[in-house]
Amino acid sequence: MANAPLTATSASDASPLRFLTCGSVDDGKSTLIGRLLYDSKLIMEDQLVALQRDSRKHGTTGDDMDLALLVDGLEAEREQGITIDVAYRFFATPRRSFIVADTPGHEQYTRNMATGASNSDAAVILIDARKGVLTQTRRHSYICSLLGIRHVIVAVNKIDLVDFSGERFHHIVGDYLGFAQALGFTSIATIPVSARFGDNVTQKSGHMCWYDGPTLLEHLESLDVEQGLDDKAFRFPVQWVNRPNLDFRGFSGTLVSGTVKPGDRVVVAASGKESTIARIVTADGDLPEARAGDAVTLTFADEIDVARGDVIAHADSRPDVVDQFAAHVLWMAEDEMLPGRSYLMRIGTKYVPARITSLKHKVDINSLDHIAAKTLGLNEIGLCNLSASAPVAFDPYSDNRATGAFILVDRFTNATAGAGMITFGLRRATNIHRQSVLVDKASRLRMHGHRPAILWFTGLSGSGKSTIASIVERELHARGAHTYMLDGDNVRHGLNRDLGFTDADRVENIRRVGEVAKLFVDAGLVVLCSFISPFRAERQMVRELVDAEEFVEIFVDTPLQECMRRDPKGLYARAKEGKIKNFTGIDSPYEVPENAEIIVDTGQGNAETAAQRIIEALAERHIVA
Ligand code: ADX
Repeated sequence: MANAPLTATSASDASPLRFLTCGSVDDGKSTLIGRLLYDSKLIMEDQLVALQRDSRKHGTTGDDMDLALLVDGLEAEREQGITIDVAYRFFATPRRSFIVADTPGHEQYTRNMATGASNSDAAVILIDARKGVLTQTRRHSYICSLLGIRHVIVAVNKIDLVDFSGERFHHIVGDYLGFAQALGFTSIATIPVSARFGDNVTQKSGHMCWYDGPTLLEHLESLDVEQGLDDKAFRFPVQWVNRPNLDFRGFSGTLVSGTVKPGDRVVVAASGKESTIARIVTADGDLPEARAGDAVTLTFADEIDVARGDVIAHADSRPDVVDQFAAHVLWMAEDEMLPGRSYLMRIGTKYVPARITSLKHKVDINSLDHIAAKTLGLNEIGLCNLSASAPVAFDPYSDNRATGAFILVDRFTNATAGAGMITFGLRRATNIHRQSVLVDKASRLRMHGHRPAILWFTGLSGSGKSTIASIVERELHARGAHTYMLDGDNVRHGLNRDLGFTDADRVENIRRVGEVAKLFVDAGLVVLCSFISPFRAERQMVRELVDAEEFVEIFVDTPLQECMRRDPKGLYARAKEGKIKNFTGIDSPYEVPENAEIIVDTGQGNAETAAQRIIEALAERHIVA
């Protein structure tokens, strides 16, 4: 076979060094990686032929081979001259094997860079010798430090284009260290290189007598990275409960850190239930020991409750278990992060609804200053407090990157909205227990003689929500129902007087109203809520606070044109003149309900008839007699 792939047959058995390359688009990242692969003789004959051909077609290096084309594999990327996504490449020397994550430099790809960084041991940060330290350099360095990278190699590239100037090199190094010292890296190496011509990449340069340090490859070969995942505490997030028949019950998943043996005393982190490992089962037979990265099925000596998402740990070194914690969050969605909104948090194998309760500050990537802010935009990073709807097991990210990281998923689009790194748990509710009460919901229901409910009126300002809700309340009252009305304009004079009309404030408005409405439901009332409540996510959040049959969404579907024509408070007129900002329907969105229980078309009849139809619908649902 002429083109047998070259693999790391001669490299030592040690696990490969994982490193990441980061730099701006044209700092020469791809050329550098291409150079490492080329000089390590990892290019195959047919690739070379293709490379020579492509260099003439797409290359930027005249008649020379453009090594960047080796790594910018995808055709679309080549045409655009940029790298997108994260590309992992493997290469090896007799001393060590390597996995390199090539990530793009554009700001809009920060999330890809973070993905590459989260499982790398070291980062090669490229600086163009002509340009020096850029915002991107600082941004990438900060993200690397945040994502737990402890070793940085600054490759000052294109040194040939500044006449191999030692002065220029030392100036850039001084600049970089002035910034990076605060980031707490264990080691920072600085190397002048020319990726294009190979100086100090794998071979010592003959052009820089002032530099007597190692080449980039020598440095990577000898870099001493901290303890591996095997040496950390044993953590096993359960992927699924494996129960093929009544005689076998095992827990399948992958060890994310540590090692485990039969006979070890273990605990289910969240419940605190203990047992002993009986067997470590794999498709190739039982193991005497499992280590980080092994996919196995564990069986226990005792029958204890274990579910998907649970974390198994040694009984004498448990992770924290809390439902509130502080974390750095890197925001990855086009839509801004809204404190109070419910996202789905994935930590390990567990999914749990979670909210960002507050943004303590966001970080200015250039100065590392902490800036007061209410929300995070795309690619911004902030320190947040989060609240999950159930306790989760975790380790601080600085102790364990596998159990300290999570992602937040948008509950409507299923897209990843943010990535988080937990700094510490918050013991907010530790000494607060639920007080049991003697009079419960059922006894209140008997006394009131009707079921409690939230009647949630949503629609544009001026749609008639409050008018219709008032008539409905009058009718309910006449039938002996115990009611209460929560109205946007009224609540904003008291409980929510501190809130305005930004997206973030509207989320918080509805969150508080939802919690109050839930208390009224517990008190046995039919509570009528009249709020624009423009976002699906928050209406859904309130819906989930109570039992399914207790929430009735009523969409007062009056077209914007009609609301503007009515303009009962003259607000639309002022909004159109630009005198009111963030006005729903003008310069702030309204997301139409997709599954409202009742839709009121105010084009058909007046408020009285609309209210009558709602009463009938409530009677059908046995909320009123
Ligand atoms: S919500 O969007 O947060 O649900 P809410 O229902 O509490 O809004 O308050 C809406 C009422 O506030 C409107 O009926 C209107 O009278 C008034 N208001 C004042 N400014 C605005 C604005 N920018 N957008 C919408 N309503 C506004």
